[in-house]
Amino acid sequence: MSTVPNVLLNNGVLIPQLGFGTFKVPPEKAEEVTLQALEIGYRHLDTAQMYGNERGVGAGVRASGLPREEIFVTTKLNNGRHGRDQALAAFDASLDALGFDYVDLFLVHWPLPARDQYVEAWRALAEIAADGRARAIGVSNFHQEHLRRLADECEVVPAVNQIEVHPYLTQDALRAFDAEAGIATEAWSPLARGRVLDDPVVVQVADAVARTPSQVVLRWAIQRGDIVFPKSSDPGRMAENFDLFDFDLSEQQMAAISALNRDERTGPNPDEFNWIPQ
Ligand SMILES: NC(=O)c1ccc[n+]([C@@H]2O[C@H](COP(=O)([O-])OP(=O)(O)OC[C@H]3O[C@@H](n4cnc5c(N)ncnc54)[C@H](OP(=O)(O)O)[C@@H]3O)[C@@H](O)[C@H]2O)c1
Repeated sequence: MSTVPNVLLNNGVLIPQLGFGTFKVPPEKAEEVTLQALEIGYRHLDTAQMYGNERGVGAGVRASGLPREEIFVTTKLNNGRHGRDQALAAFDASLDALGFDYVDLFLVHWPLPARDQYVEAWRALAEIAADGRARAIGVSNFHQEHLRRLADECEVVPAVNQIEVHPYLTQDALRAFDAEAGIATEAWSPLARGRVLDDPVVVQVADAVARTPSQVVLRWAIQRGDIVFPKSSDPGRMAENFDLFDFDLSEQQMAAISALNRDERTGPNPDEFNWIPQ
């Protein structure tokens, strides 16, 4: 079986450090792709209400025949549902779409600072965790000031902060802040959606360890301690991205990849992003 290590979250829940991302997996493909990922060995799936594919992800889990408790499933609150009652209703809709009676991790997807409702959304997630329908709760795209506000105004500390991290955006300050607060960092777009894969330094390290650029970039994230869930719609690349636990990068190779940082995002800056779906 899988050699993927677990990370211990601050509420005692274990999460597989490597999972499978489903952003941009079309709803009609989600069951098939999820099933392929589970057959390859992934036991951690990352979806979101705004991806529109929860129904297919849940169907893929059932099609695998695996016991529900062997698979860690994360979903995330729609940006347009930060009010308490809206958040609770949206969570119910997620359970319905997934066909589950609980999720493993539920996240506030974006802070949307100009809308100023993320504290209310976080309190709604705390209610959901208290009644056991989410085994853990966390946030995504939260910066230090957003996390400080939760710490000042709420009792529950997020189990994770899911943020954009890859060799061109190493996020050292925010990752250190998360660690200090007992919050596990999840690195989204760990391949920078493919942009880092032809970087000469990445290619050089890949040649040196006889692995692919994607494996080297994911291994770098794993050795830094982050939780990752690369997305691919190709079974060959899905298997490649899962095969990370029989080699190591040296300190020098780790440092060379970290030195590629140029604070370059592939997605929006959470301080300026306030979009809600219509
Ligand atoms: N919380 C948030 O706001 C947020 C935002 C973005 C993403 N996420 C989560 O993070 C997950 C991963 O991020 P992401 O999907 O944006 O990007 P990513 O995993 O960094 O990159 C995915 C892209 O890289 C390609 N790729 C994957 N494996 C490859 C390989 N071995 N060789 C060459 N190309 C490869 C994929 O193409 P093919 O499909 O053709 O293989 C796809 O275009 C998402 O799926 C989602 O679950 C969360």
